[in-house]
Amino acid sequence: MFNKRIKIKDLLASDQTGQEVTVMGWVRTFRNNQFIALNDGSTNNNIQVVAELGKFDESLLKRITTGASLKITGESVPSLGKGQKLEIKAQRIEVLGDSDAEKFPLQPKKHSLEFLREIAHLRFRTNTFGAVFRVRHSLAFAIHKFFNEKGFVYLHTPIVTASDAEGAGEMFKVTTLPFDNTPRNEDGSVNFKEDFFGRATNLTVSGQLEGELAAMAFSEIYTFGPTFRAENSNTARHLAEFWMIEPEMAFYDLEDNMNLAEEFIKYIIRYAMEHNREDLEFLAQRLAEEEKALPQDKRSEMGLIEKLEFVVNNNFERVTYTEAIDILRESNHNKKKKFQYLVDKWGVDLQSEHERYLVEKHFKKPVILTNYPKEIKAFYMRQNDDGKTVAAMDILAPGIGEIVGGSQREERLDRLEARMDEMHIPKEEMWWYLDTRRFGAVPHAGFGLGFERMVLFVTGMTNIRDVIAFPRTPKNAEF
Ligand code: 4AD
Ligand code: MG
Repeated sequence: MFNKRIKIKDLLASDQTGQEVTVMGWVRTFRNNQFIALNDGSTNNNIQVVAELGKFDESLLKRITTGASLKITGESVPSLGKGQKLEIKAQRIEVLGDSDAEKFPLQPKKHSLEFLREIAHLRFRTNTFGAVFRVRHSLAFAIHKFFNEKGFVYLHTPIVTASDAEGAGEMFKVTTLPFDNTPRNEDGSVNFKEDFFGRATNLTVSGQLEGELAAMAFSEIYTFGPTFRAENSNTARHLAEFWMIEPEMAFYDLEDNMNLAEEFIKYIIRYAMEHNREDLEFLAQRLAEEEKALPQDKRSEMGLIEKLEFVVNNNFERVTYTEAIDILRESNHNKKKKFQYLVDKWGVDLQSEHERYLVEKHFKKPVILTNYPKEIKAFYMRQNDDGKTVAAMDILAPGIGEIVGGSQREERLDRLEARMDEMHIPKEEMWWYLDTRRFGAVPHAGFGLGFERMVLFVTGMTNIRDVIAFPRTPKNAEF
């Protein structure tokens, strides 16, 4: 059997010396023709391998370069080096894959995140990305664990769809029609009858509407999949392809929805804190270093771990949109015209500068904003009795802004249809969605958590391109 190895994480965690072990991994550094730092991605800690002088051929030693992959068998012995209990005294070293030191772009030094984005295929092999992607994995796992423990059914909603869930109209079209000689109708419009699906389709922006259908049978479901938005937002918080978790629950009102969202967020953060301590400590250190370069007032008030602990141990602030507008309008920030978009009247959409002010300056904790004006929210949100607002809720996180968007859904057929008419949403195409309001409608609610924004929050990274393996953003789909 080829792969009879011990993972470096497990080896480092054990204190079994005097054993024969086999490790495999990639060379991080090779010092003094003797000391190999080997990493296999199970942890940021390398195992030190000692290749005793004189024991190995010069020709082999030459091939031990940064980036090369090795299979090493040797004896685990107590280490004299600090910060590690044991190391390996090599008996056999096999080069699995050479790496030309002249050409390998990753050097054993600090590279900028911008540079690493250009070599995203290799950046997993750095400490920062090692830590980020192990934390990302843990969060994904914790999400399934959370919902599984609560008896939610994991629903896989379609990626290709003919509906536009958010009514946002910023979608990627999917088609097999040719660009030249596109089949056309007599009036010049594209003849989608000739297309693969026989109609116009797009990549999904959200699995919510399909999720609602399943919630009307299983009571509680969640989705966790990729979603796509063709909005031309070139920011550190937007991706064209991002992963979203969308639970949808029958017999829930807005308050139940908020309670679940808050419990969920705290649960997955706690899980990462318990299972990724080392990685989070590394990332906390990284962030602290990074912030040293910033002026005092731009630095975070808390360290990363402190911030996460604070979030899991404190209640989120719950305020209505109306209250938030009053706070913003009366703020010195607004009066001194420090907002790019000044807050003057009820009804305006909140910009991320406003969200961040509320969270970072005013409340200094995560905030759940509720009951937004219906004009700035989607058609499916439940209309409140005031005739002006809907039972929406957004969760805003420090350093990020909006991390969750959700609502109680409009379950009353007449109210829903009236709102769709007002918003010019074609009811005929949504017959299946409206059917759930015809046959056994119940109060229900749900929300969507942007997975990458959550990973940003937990890892303390600042650009969303650095928490997804291969980011898709305007003018960029490399790899
Ligand atoms: O607020 P949004 O648009 O809500 C929905 O899609 C609802 N259907 C959710 C639901 O009620 N089931 O998106 C939800 C979350 C946002 O709060 C944000 O965290 C994230 O998805 N998000 C993005 N993340 C990265 N890049 C983008 N372009 C994003 N757009 C939204
Ligand atoms: Mg939103």
